[in-house]
Amino acid sequence: MKDEITKAVMILQGGGLVAVPTETVYGLGANARDEAAVARIYQVKGRPSYNPLIVHVAGEEAALEIAELGPVERALAAAFWPGPLTMVVPLKTDAGISPLVTAGLSTIALRAPRHEIMQALLEKSGLAIAAPSANRSGGVSPTTATHVHDDLDGQVDMILDGGPTQAGLESTIVKVTEGDHGERFLLLLRPGTVTIRELEEVAGIEVVRLEDYRGGNAVGDEAETPVSPGLLLKHYAPQAALRLDARDVKPDEGVLGFGKLDGNLPGIEGETPIYNLSEAGDLEEAARRLYGGLRWMDKQGVAKVAVCPIPKTGIGVALNDRLQRAAAK
Ligand code: TXA
Ligand code: MG
Repeated sequence: MKDEITKAVMILQGGGLVAVPTETVYGLGANARDEAAVARIYQVKGRPSYNPLIVHVAGEEAALEIAELGPVERALAAAFWPGPLTMVVPLKTDAGISPLVTAGLSTIALRAPRHEIMQALLEKSGLAIAAPSANRSGGVSPTTATHVHDDLDGQVDMILDGGPTQAGLESTIVKVTEGDHGERFLLLLRPGTVTIRELEEVAGIEVVRLEDYRGGNAVGDEAETPVSPGLLLKHYAPQAALRLDARDVKPDEGVLGFGKLDGNLPGIEGETPIYNLSEAGDLEEAARRLYGGLRWMDKQGVAKVAVCPIPKTGIGVALNDRLQRAAAK
């Protein structure tokens, strides 16, 4: 692995693209200060240029070279970095970050990943690494190096295999925001495996979910300025059509299960394709297995999938968010 990391550092410094493991999902990495390299990320992913990228740094010190972090962000960094938390913060204009990375916004999304390979890359290269999930835009995020091969083979300069990712869902994204009466809260732009309760404990201010912000008009056609451009998109979508909160199975459906299925799900037959996210009903296990499960359904050629109900608390908030997006037409 040491030789591979050295090679990856050289490729990144030379303006190339490297698919990298993180603890959430695999990322498609490039030097965030290299305009041409960043342009290639958008091209390879087929990503619209208005949807900005997350920049990965080793830790708080490196983050401060790029952006302003207030007291709340510093407390969150101390508690959750390195780890699966991304913060949207004011960009320092002299940081040298390619404007393509931020899609011209005055803010930037920063994250210090925990995965040891990613940490080694950041430390050895000294770079800030822009990295969206390493899948085609709109598709299912990759949680293994094989998934990256399936999606992007031949279009990247190197794929670093760090094994299956540990969390399985993309990072939690937050932004300290001021309300109409000057009150500050933490806007949850994307739920993840760092939960609302954990965030509130550390931040000491309320977490507001995007669907509850501005009367639910923060995203979509009604919004004057969308708070997070990428949230406008259907996302994480497999080929298969998903039916959520299913309490039974139709003859032409596969099953994405959660918990014990025997007896609980009428309609299951011997031939029903079944991928159980967690027989034990464990949300962390389900998060780790979700994207693999969606990809499995497509590989089996299952066109319709009944998805069992998943509790909407803790990490279940993020799981249900991804499933809803994956099911959106
Ligand atoms: O776990 C993760 O976050 C993975 C790994 C690779 O780190 N990365 C990831 O990146 O999920 P991506 O590009 O697939 O999702 C980034 C999201 C998009 O929805 C984008 O719109 C939002 O972050 N974003 C980026 N910069 C932003 C900004 N300045 N303001 C608001 N939203 C921003
Ligand atoms: Mg993505």
